[in-house]
Amino acid sequence: MDLTGKNVVYLGGFGGIGQKCVQELLQRQIKALAIFDLVENAAVLAEWKNKNPNTDIFYQKLDITQKSDIEAAYKATAERLGHFDVVVNGSGLMNDRLIELTIQINLLGVINSTLTALEYMDKAKGGRGGLIVNISSVAGLQPTALMAIYSAAKTGLTTFTRAMANPIYYAHSGVGFITICPGFTDTGLLEDIGSKTTFTYETPMVAMFNKIQRQKPEDCARNLVRAIETAQNGAVLMLELGESQEVDMPVMWKPQLSD
Ligand SMILES: NC(=O)c1ccc[n+]([C@@H]2O[C@H](COP(=O)([O-])OP(=O)(O)OC[C@H]3O[C@@H](n4cnc5c(N)ncnc54)[C@H](O)[C@@H]3O)[C@@H](O)[C@H]2O)c1
Repeated sequence: MDLTGKNVVYLGGFGGIGQKCVQELLQRQIKALAIFDLVENAAVLAEWKNKNPNTDIFYQKLDITQKSDIEAAYKATAERLGHFDVVVNGSGLMNDRLIELTIQINLLGVINSTLTALEYMDKAKGGRGGLIVNISSVAGLQPTALMAIYSAAKTGLTTFTRAMANPIYYAHSGVGFITICPGFTDTGLLEDIGSKTTFTYETPMVAMFNKIQRQKPEDCARNLVRAIETAQNGAVLMLELGESQEVDMPVMWKPQLSD
């Protein structure tokens, strides 16, 4: 998708990866940018507005665990912009000691955000179609034992997003879906891993985790925004160490139809 003149909604836009993605997006002459996040970063928002006077940039408070917040944020954005073309679900939490919250933020919240966005974007409901980008993780591609709950939530998100990209849905709604699976990226999410693991006892996994190479958030962001511009509906992209690679997801089951 050519981003010039487009209206973009970014959930988690004040986070480590989110801020870098916003900067990339703002280089594309987008028309409007709505940042949905838990807490406003007024200084960063003011800087973006000053440097980009031709883009309508605004903040909507949203706790993604609250359906009413999600509905209010999209409603206010639709009223202000008329429509939006791209939604990036980029909120996230990695803390396996908070089981319910991990599922609520990384899976249930993104499902609710996606379905609410679709209400406005779906061509069959008077929308214009567009693209929904869900940020999963490499932990959403394979089991990551140290963070079993986070890995389960992200795996659920990968599968949900791929299911939403079904060509039958796409033909109906005109809304495409891509799944982004970053590898380790240097943000606050990775801080203090030892106190966020699934179990409290010591394993060699924490030491290994701390040795895993990390990419810079700006490298991840560059590839994410490029994916918005170039990826096909249904693509699953692994963004690892500054590279972007489309993942060929295996077909495990082919249903046998009766006559
Ligand atoms: N950093 C990594 O190594 C890495 C790797 C793979 C995937 N990811 C994913 O990338 C995305 C961005 O993560 P990040 O590394 O920038 O982390 P981050 O902690 O810097 O940013 C997370 C963002 O989510 C927002 N958020 C948290 N709880 C929320 C809530 N209840 N409601 C609304 N927003 C909420 C935060 O305010 C913040 O803006 C997440 O989905 C994360 O799971 C990160």
